[in-house]
Amino acid sequence: MFYIIIKLIHLFSVLIYGGFLFTDNLILMRMKKSLSEEKYNEVRGHFAKFTKALVPKALIFAVASGLYLFYVSFGSIENGFSNFQILLSIKAFLASWLGLRGVLQVFFGIQPFVFKGHLLPFVLVIIIVFLSQIMYSF
Ligand code: HEM
Repeated sequence: MFYIIIKLIHLFSVLIYGGFLFTDNLILMRMKKSLSEEKYNEVRGHFAKFTKALVPKALIFAVASGLYLFYVSFGSIENGFSNFQILLSIKAFLASWLGLRGVLQVFFGIQPFVFKGHLLPFVLVIIIVFLSQIMYSF
């Protein structure tokens, strides 16, 4: 039962984080083309104000709950890694890196060297979700 609760926390926090990236990359970016710069900055300011309180916390919950899910579902290693363990490890690495990057950026103001924006996290989240679906089928 506890595992299911953590998995639900994982899915909802991923939904909030992924939803933010989707809105930012696919909606706000498109609005930039149709709004004046002043109007766009105003809209963006409001978006940032409302999301700043929630999204970084959702990312932390996604990573923390993921680490627990990983610990329980990884399984023992027999004659090297199974395909499931390889795919889950790639997912866990990419997602943990996203988490670390996000926490350093938001809570410590430490910017990554490259790709400071939200496009890279968006692409990585799509890859991570894809991995989360294929990892059980190999
Ligand atoms: C932003 C980051 C993350 C995203 C977008 C994400 C996405 C997902 C999704 C969509 C699932 C559901 C799969 C399903 O039931 O169909 C899932 C499950 C899982 N995630 Fe994540 N995840 C993230 C971070 C992490 C991290 C950091 C870890 C481990 C260190 C992790 C480990 C797992 C595990 C083990 C499962 C399988 C749970 C199960 O099926 O019982 N996740 N993740």
